[in-house]
Amino acid sequence: MPKMKSVFVCRSCGFESPKWNGRCPNCGEWNTFEEVDALPKSSSSAGKSSARVARSITPLKEVDLSEASEVRYHTGMEELDRVLGGGLVKGSLVLLGGEPGIGKSTLLLQICEHLGKEHTILYVSGEESARQIRLRAERLGVVGDGLYILAESDAQAIADTVSSNKPDIVIIDSIQTMGISEINSAPGSITQVRECTNLFMRLAKSEEIPFFIVGHVNKDGAIAGPKVMEHIVDAVLYFEGDRNLSYRILRAAKNRFGSTNEIGVFDMKDNGLEQVENPSQMLLSGRPTGVSGCCVLCTMEGTRPILAEVQALVTKSGQTSPRRVTTGFDFNRVWMILAVLEKRLGFCYSALDVYVNIIGGLKIQEPAADLPVAMALYSSLTDKPLGDDVIAFGELGLGGEIRSVSHVEQRIAEARRLGFKKCIVPRHAIKSTQKFAGIEVIGVSSLRQAFEAVK
Ligand SMILES: Nc1ncnc2c1ncn2[C@@H]1O[C@H](COP(=O)(O)OP(=O)(O)O)[C@@H](O)[C@H]1O
Ligand SMILES: [Mg+2]
Ligand SMILES: [Zn+2]
Repeated sequence: MPKMKSVFVCRSCGFESPKWNGRCPNCGEWNTFEEVDALPKSSSSAGKSSARVARSITPLKEVDLSEASEVRYHTGMEELDRVLGGGLVKGSLVLLGGEPGIGKSTLLLQICEHLGKEHTILYVSGEESARQIRLRAERLGVVGDGLYILAESDAQAIADTVSSNKPDIVIIDSIQTMGISEINSAPGSITQVRECTNLFMRLAKSEEIPFFIVGHVNKDGAIAGPKVMEHIVDAVLYFEGDRNLSYRILRAAKNRFGSTNEIGVFDMKDNGLEQVENPSQMLLSGRPTGVSGCCVLCTMEGTRPILAEVQALVTKSGQTSPRRVTTGFDFNRVWMILAVLEKRLGFCYSALDVYVNIIGGLKIQEPAADLPVAMALYSSLTDKPLGDDVIAFGELGLGGEIRSVSHVEQRIAEARRLGFKKCIVPRHAIKSTQKFAGIEVIGVSSLRQAFEAVK
């Protein structure tokens, strides 16, 4: 037998390289490379069944689109169903990633309450004993009809149990504790994580049983993270959030059965995760009034408009190169906005420290936040509050112009719903004749006009 070829894979991001690296050239982490046998053919393809015979082909128009061809289970958590693309698809493998302690086990145990009413669920834990799971279930108010517990970490034994018991849904908590005994490496290594995921994937497809698989994101890099299995599974959901704050955001990084734009918002309480149907209200609660440097923005998360507050603080710098610190907003974009403020409006920040913070741990990717960030920077510099009932959105161009963004009407509606009175929007995004009841909508085509509007 020829010697199996090996590759080196980064535990943190899954980057592959033919040689060992001390530092990953892709994600920059140190000491994360692990030698892995290149995947043997037998595990990557479905086996020997693919004999060489011609297959029948189907005209696109005749592909079955009926309800029965795609069964989805509703989890009883609207926020989770939305991120899944409308529920859990039969036979799909869903990876739920997140840092330890963020609430992955909690979420999955909670949905068992609803799912268990009509389906049988096998909850496999390699981390906790059956007793611990029962105690957690009691705390979460999960009675658990239809819920079966298996404390096991031998992946092959789990696969056999699933094949013989045929539950409707399987939960694996967590993939890093699972191992196949024939494979000569420790649970949590890249080889084990990949091979176990492959094993469960084949099982999910052949038995048409959906799997939820928990994958810990580990900053230390000692165990393989969810990134090394992202390409194998059907959907990847990440649970994000600041452990010091109670709310959590669930985001899809990949979904073969739905959009990856949708997010779900949860609040971690003593008795488990609660769905947050009104994230804007939550993100804006406790907002200071009459303070300079604050502006409310409206960002789109999938099809949902979400309001959040941006705070800027501009202070005299004691250093030769002033500090620029951002949280939740792109660092380079702040530099760009500062350059536009300086070049087009003559405001000088070069001797000042600048801090920009999106409150509540939200990470904003959208250029629609440019205008509110610029307004917060302006407000802090001039030390004039913008007014507590003002909201703004729009992309900033290098010429100081305010450019249009998508979903303008939805954003305005969300602002009105939360009681805002003045909405500053890109002029080109609204028609001059358009009327909005209950809120003053001001279209601006330049940053200068936006500042005039709040004078
Ligand atoms: N006995 C408990 N009482 C109250 N809260 C708890 C208890 N145990 C865990 N939690 C909360 O649940 C969180 C752990 O969630 P968990 O679902 O176990 O995380 P994960 O599975 O993602 O590692 C903890 O951060 C804590 O806030
Ligand atoms: Mg857990
Ligand atoms: Zn890496």
